[in-house]
Amino acid sequence: MSDPDDADDEVTAETAGEGDRSPVLLVRGDREYLVEPGDEMGTDLGVLDVPEDVRPGDALETHLGDEFRVRRLRGPDLFHHFERTGAPMVPRDIGLVIGETGIARGDRVLDAGTGTGVLAASMARAGASVVTYERDPEFADVARENMALGGVADAVDVRTGDVLEDLDGLEPSSFDVCTLDTGDAPSIVDYAPTLLVDGGFVAVYSPFIESTREVVTAAREAGLSNVTTRETIQREMQFDDRGSRPSTAPVGHTGYLTIARNE
Ligand SMILES: C[S@@+](CC[C@H](N)C(=O)[O-])C[C@H]1O[C@@H](n2cnc3c(N)ncnc32)[C@H](O)[C@@H]1O
Repeated sequence: MSDPDDADDEVTAETAGEGDRSPVLLVRGDREYLVEPGDEMGTDLGVLDVPEDVRPGDALETHLGDEFRVRRLRGPDLFHHFERTGAPMVPRDIGLVIGETGIARGDRVLDAGTGTGVLAASMARAGASVVTYERDPEFADVARENMALGGVADAVDVRTGDVLEDLDGLEPSSFDVCTLDTGDAPSIVDYAPTLLVDGGFVAVYSPFIESTREVVTAAREAGLSNVTTRETIQREMQFDDRGSRPSTAPVGHTGYLTIARNE
């Protein structure tokens, strides 16, 4: 893992995709393709050769003359373009985790489970060094590839294995934040007072209210303070010729986010 204080060897969101051989997005209207420098891309609009020195901001044409803009990947693009394994956290919930815990440059984060790795990569792109555990070896391999795609392979240590088996061996007070997105989160929460620095946060994402209650109980019994749970729900607004109102699409709820502090 890179030293977060050493800017020279850090691969950041600023450098990823700019003049290096990182994948980039080709965008035209609602079409969006993830490509690598040197790729040949076939579309219904013709064939497009991606130059080896492709850069964000470039405009490329297919052999039929249709133009695509070149973009580097940003945070929400990871959600759409990472190869999916464990259900990835949606961008708004990632925003809540980062906002509620204050994750910033130089922070050390313990994350479990990695899954697709969207949360781990997003925290690394915010400047944190992340140790993340994934017990499914194939998922862990995919997550490592996703970290490379997100430009944060050096900042995210994807460890294959059950985090519960390693907790006793982790150095006390070695993490600023612990993020949990697993069914066995209550058992991991027990270790939060040992693993977190004074004032550090634990953030637990739970899909069901039953598991959320177990997390809250575990956090209280562990002696964590400011234990707070919020449902994460958001209404999309629709604006059309007839008027403006919340979308009637029934997807707004994603889960429950419990935050607690070590103090
Ligand atoms: C919902 S996914 C996590 C998604 C992740 N937060 C993201 O944004 O992509 C949960 C993952 O945790 C893994 N997992 C569950 N319990 C675990 C444990 N005790 N140790 C390590 N990984 C675990 C599962 O295999 C699964 O891939």
